[in-house]
Amino acid sequence: MIPQSFIEELKMNCDIESVISSYVQLRKRGRISTGLCPFHSEKTGSFTVYPESQSFYCFGCGAGGDVIGFIRRIENLEYVEAIKFLAQRAGMNVPEDAAEDKTAILKTKILEMNREAARFYFSELTKPNGKAALDYLLGRGLLPKTIKHFGLGYAPNEWTALTDLLASKGYRYEDMEAAQLSRKSNKSGRYYDVFRDRVMFPIIDLRGNVIGFGGRKMSGDGPKYYNSPDTPVFKKTKNLFALNFAKKQKLDHLILCEGYMDVIAMHQAGFTEAVASLGTSLTSDQCRLASSYVEEAVLAYDSDEAGQKATKRAVSLLDEVGIRTRVLTIPDAKDPDEYIKKFGGTRFKKLIEQSAGSTEYELSKISAKYDTDSPEGKILALKEAVNLLSGMRNPLEREIWAAKLARDYGTTKEGILSQIQSKIKRKAKAENARAISGQSVSSTTFAGAVPEKLKNPAAAAAEERLLGSVMRNPDVLSTLSTELSSENFTCELYRLFYEKLLSTLSTKAEISLTLFGEDFTLEQQNIIARLAHLAREHQYSSEDALEAAKTILRLKDKKSDKEIAELSGSELAAYIEKMRKAKK
Ligand code: CTP
Ligand code: MN
Repeated sequence: MIPQSFIEELKMNCDIESVISSYVQLRKRGRISTGLCPFHSEKTGSFTVYPESQSFYCFGCGAGGDVIGFIRRIENLEYVEAIKFLAQRAGMNVPEDAAEDKTAILKTKILEMNREAARFYFSELTKPNGKAALDYLLGRGLLPKTIKHFGLGYAPNEWTALTDLLASKGYRYEDMEAAQLSRKSNKSGRYYDVFRDRVMFPIIDLRGNVIGFGGRKMSGDGPKYYNSPDTPVFKKTKNLFALNFAKKQKLDHLILCEGYMDVIAMHQAGFTEAVASLGTSLTSDQCRLASSYVEEAVLAYDSDEAGQKATKRAVSLLDEVGIRTRVLTIPDAKDPDEYIKKFGGTRFKKLIEQSAGSTEYELSKISAKYDTDSPEGKILALKEAVNLLSGMRNPLEREIWAAKLARDYGTTKEGILSQIQSKIKRKAKAENARAISGQSVSSTTFAGAVPEKLKNPAAAAAEERLLGSVMRNPDVLSTLSTELSSENFTCELYRLFYEKLLSTLSTKAEISLTLFGEDFTLEQQNIIARLAHLAREHQYSSEDALEAAKTILRLKDKKSDKEIAELSGSELAAYIEKMRKAKK
């Protein structure tokens, strides 16, 4: 642990405006400065620096924090690394901590070994033993320059080729094992290569470090792909393959696909905005990562059942972080790689242009499932469609889709809307009943939850995320205090707690759960402690707090169905415009 006193001294020596101005051209505007956000592409300056609170915030992408947070983001550093970086800039010596130093040294070692390994695998492709692998890659349609660009390689069919090489360069076996490049044999106690006789795909992070590998078998049994397990430098669930290349350009969307070969084929065909989640299970961390670059994603998962299932899941995960989705239907091919090989890049581009928004996609799936020429089929399809639309929060959106359904199925919009209404009512009733009987309503609501949660689950969830992240990242509080006042809270307990937190800003008290002991009942303390726990579990960052603040403000502005019904025509138009802007 670096002592808090050092961090405070460091922050005094690193004025946020002067640090940021070495990255961003800032313009003074009274007490604040603004500029073009370095974390997303924009033409207007939404990026704001607040010298008084020594914080920054971007109204466009929601990035914000203190000077350490800024350095972490822009230099892509861990907390401690960012402190060291700033200390060096300020000419200060960081008090050494043996344990932390050790992991930092190990991380550096692993990255060095990974780089050595990538170089080695790449050079093996040009050797006689690697010819089959090279032929394999060329046979799959890759050009030599693509192979070089992605640094593809071959792990030879030997037990200790890489292990010996690394040992000859002075690396220790235990460190090779920590890098997941070598493993110790239980029998002989000797170390052997993890990747053998596989085509190798290095995984590179945004700073250009090789953080892990995927290895594809060319023949024989065993899993087709083997990926590096997590190491101190690699978390599979937090990285997107090829994002390092994709983010080199101005992006308006990302193409999300499953596999290494899909991404590589797409890049070769000019679609350099393609990234892969590596397998079908997209994670919320990956979504969050994507959301700092784009507001739209085109889903290009495999056309098999697993891929389709994964697509649905991805649509809702991406929706949670505010990314709009379009879904690619890939006809006559199992995945983008095969499609491009069969029909070429121009046809693929057409597919992207024609790809439908996710609701349209869901509806088309439904109508494909039934024989909609028969009355029975029509009824079944409509029933399912009504169920889908009843899950939409926005009544205007429901209305638009109801109108489309009415046209497609030759019925009336009003009929469909009233079906949707009664479906919504039934769902709410069922939830209520479950809540009263003490059963969990959903994974996030439970008996000991705040009462408002039942009626306003989205607002409550955002408030929970905000408070949890503040407890983990107290530094974000000063930025928040200028963005979000406590009146915007929906849940009473959370509002009180937020006010308590804000009060620590003036008293300089430390944020800890014990501080609030006397102000809250035990049950309330439980609820708050649970927020802290969830925050740890999800590893909420200060960005989460700022994102949640945005969500809270947006939800606050959202009107209920009843309120909307009472608006006049011009009021309604203004409201729609406001919602549209907020969504951006
Ligand atoms: N995957 C994995 N482990 C497996 C199978 C798949 O990690 N045993 C991951 C890989 O990242 C792979 C992706 O899931 O790229 C998609 O799997 P699949 O569709 O089987 O792979 P393709 O990329 O289509 O493989 P290829 O074209 O090389 O056959
Ligand atoms: Mn595939």
